[in-house]
Amino acid sequence: TRVAVVYGGRSGEHAVSRQSAASILTHLDRDRHQVVPVLIDRDGGWWIEEDGPDPAATGARAATEDVWRAPGPAPALGMTEALRRLRDVDVVFPALHGPFGEDGTIQSMLALYGIPFVGNGVLASAVGMDKEHTKTMLASAGIPVAPGLVLRPGQRPRPEDLAPLGLPLFVKPARAGSSLGVSRVDDLAQLPAALATARESDGKVLVEGAVPGREIDVGVLQRADGTLEVSPPLEIRVAEDQRFFDYEAKYDGSVGTVFDVPATLDASTAERLDRLAVAVFEALDCAGLLRVDVFLRADGELVVNEVNTFPGFTSASQYPLMWRAAGLSYSELLTAMVDTALA
Ligand code: DAL
Ligand code: MG
Repeated sequence: TRVAVVYGGRSGEHAVSRQSAASILTHLDRDRHQVVPVLIDRDGGWWIEEDGPDPAATGARAATEDVWRAPGPAPALGMTEALRRLRDVDVVFPALHGPFGEDGTIQSMLALYGIPFVGNGVLASAVGMDKEHTKTMLASAGIPVAPGLVLRPGQRPRPEDLAPLGLPLFVKPARAGSSLGVSRVDDLAQLPAALATARESDGKVLVEGAVPGREIDVGVLQRADGTLEVSPPLEIRVAEDQRFFDYEAKYDGSVGTVFDVPATLDASTAERLDRLAVAVFEALDCAGLLRVDVFLRADGELVVNEVNTFPGFTSASQYPLMWRAAGLSYSELLTAMVDTALA
């Protein structure tokens, strides 16, 4: 099959997407797949790598920020021209994180052009990118979510709404990823600065109360026959001097965050987590894959923090690590995702 891996993109997670794509391009099984790397630059220009200076090199290239600074003879393609060219691929693998990639926008273009693609469709992607609507949909399916407030552009929090949330608070842009723009607030005096930081990414902001407990991720993978498999859980243990699992902890290998995979959970918690993961996948109308990030409270309750409709995909990221713990190699995982998209 001919697989176009689309990466980069216009979001704040451009660099993260390049890292995910570097792993994907390296590990896609070349005996089964013919790979066409496609970069979306930070300005939204599309580059089909077959046009580039060195069409043979398709592995670590994605990670290298400067490769496409001085690209081949052709200028960036417009999106319409790029999609027209991609109509002859069998499947597109959108390896994009954040707005304009993980949020249903690319997915809707591919659907309109009739090009099969890996992973979640328009609705799940759009809802999953928006922390307000993720929570609304999960709560309406009876799934516990962290308490919090939504502040629309320009809106300030009222003290009486903040009081029940206690401290610390977590302030997050409603539509962003990789903890970009997220702050932990230990003192209300820090709140205005935290809101301003979040609003650099999105005018709509969430202010959430902390959920004390363990931070656990779990993966759902949909097979070609439609069945859902749930991965072993992974626990994120943030270093003592790190205030939360922020961008630095996610991508700077020298920051001491530890992943325990499989996480040590008692049998009943593990079973409830499995059911929760499937319930979240179904409540959001997901397809292909999902990473569900939860808190395990001291009283045993599982509370959903957020979801990722296209989670980080470097070979050291949580989702591939969880599947490796289940005996599925990174390459096998990619093949499974492509097979599901083509089913
Ligand atoms: N949004 C990033 C990639 C993650 O959560 O894995
Ligand atoms: Mg994310």
